[in-house]
Amino acid sequence: MGAFKSACSSRAHSLLQKALWYIDSIKPCKPLERHNAHWYQNSSSSSSSATSFPSSRSSSLFWPALDLSPLQDEQQVLCAGNSFVKRDFSGAGTIRATLFPGDGIGPEIAKAVKQVFSAVQVPIEWEEHYVGTVVDPKTGSFITWNSMESVRQCGIGLKGPMATPIGKGHKSLNLTLRKELGLYANVRPCLSIPGYKTRYDDVDLITIRENTEGEYSGLEHQVVRGVVESLKIITRQASIRVAEYAFHYAKLHGRKRVSAIHKANIMKKTDGLFLQCCREVAEKYPDLVYEEVIIDNCCMMLVKNPALFDVLVMPNLYGDIISDLCAGLIGGLGLTPSGNIGDNGLALMEAVHGTAPDIAGKNMANPTALLLSSVMMLKHLKMNEPAEKIHKSILKTIADGKWRTFDLGGSTSCSDYTKAVIDNL
Ligand SMILES: NC(=O)c1ccc[n+]([C@@H]2O[C@H](COP(=O)([O-])OP(=O)(O)OC[C@H]3O[C@@H](n4cnc5c(N)ncnc54)[C@H](O)[C@@H]3O)[C@@H](O)[C@H]2O)c1
Repeated sequence: MGAFKSACSSRAHSLLQKALWYIDSIKPCKPLERHNAHWYQNSSSSSSSATSFPSSRSSSLFWPALDLSPLQDEQQVLCAGNSFVKRDFSGAGTIRATLFPGDGIGPEIAKAVKQVFSAVQVPIEWEEHYVGTVVDPKTGSFITWNSMESVRQCGIGLKGPMATPIGKGHKSLNLTLRKELGLYANVRPCLSIPGYKTRYDDVDLITIRENTEGEYSGLEHQVVRGVVESLKIITRQASIRVAEYAFHYAKLHGRKRVSAIHKANIMKKTDGLFLQCCREVAEKYPDLVYEEVIIDNCCMMLVKNPALFDVLVMPNLYGDIISDLCAGLIGGLGLTPSGNIGDNGLALMEAVHGTAPDIAGKNMANPTALLLSSVMMLKHLKMNEPAEKIHKSILKTIADGKWRTFDLGGSTSCSDYTKAVIDNL
């Protein structure tokens, strides 16, 4: 027992040292205060007791929710310390953008985007980058330094899914990109697709996920055989930053409510700090309703009545899970886009889904999620005309009902669906 304890403490000490670089930005904060009780934290409350919520905003053919306006410069004091090139995309001319086709179905759906862009003659010149086959010592991952530099220099990019081995193997390529590029917020709009029937017709949810730390810090360690540790890192800097973005986004898009999702009843320090930061930011936005919802209850309420929520902000792992749950509400992962936002407007858009190894190489993938992510990219570049054109065409193609990919219960191939989108432009 004594040997076990000493092994634990020396290993834990070295793990903590390894983590110090991560947490140097933590500043002491006030102990967590009890927040007002909310209806959702009381299991006996029913949905009828919830505050009334605006009805669907997603009925219009064009969704403003896909516009990821970055924080204003003056609001970026908390995001200082980057070396990115700030690019002005407002002028005319061709814009260079990084494209990672990725793994699995990635190259098939990236091809769809390239075909649609070329049909619309979008003035984008792609800098294509592929995942390497050996670890780049500068990044510690299969993502090369050159690829990273491409995103830094272009300031904008689109990314296909990238595979990460489960339970073994190399560092996640997605985590490397998000962390190295400081892509601190992952915004996942989840809106009902007109004409594609699901249990709910009016889903209109925005999940904003902290993207750089939390449970995905990658600090795992075997203490002794049969005992492993994983560090969940929550910093004040990253929490304030993502909360700032969530409230900024909500205000800009005329949203009414921001819900911070947590498990601070159990993880009192980590999720407690996250909530503390959300509360501080919420005080600056008195016009927005701020609430705190425990994650398990949130999942139940989302499935029961998604209209109870509006903008949701949360630590990394919860964001990963909740956004997939939200994708299920509108028809699945083939339909949900996302945008990763960094400092100075740096943005890397990507579909929420993974590499879909079960259908890779079979021309069965639904390219909608990546196409909608590319619409987000164009909106971010203020290329509103081609963005709107592509967006309308996607919605029309799905609403037609004739061109449904396999995941939506149809039998249309990825290439035929892409052709239909082009024909509908
Ligand atoms: N951002 C990313 O790059 C990202 C995200 C999630 C998972 N992954 C990686 O992807 C790999 C596979 O993960 P997974 O199987 O858990 O999740 P997945 O999203 O790849 O697949 C889940 C299910 O959804 C289906 N699906 C996903 N996208 C689809 C599309 N566009 N069209 C039709 N069907 C689609 C798949 O066929 C599968 O049945 C893993 O290596 C994982 O690490 C990467």
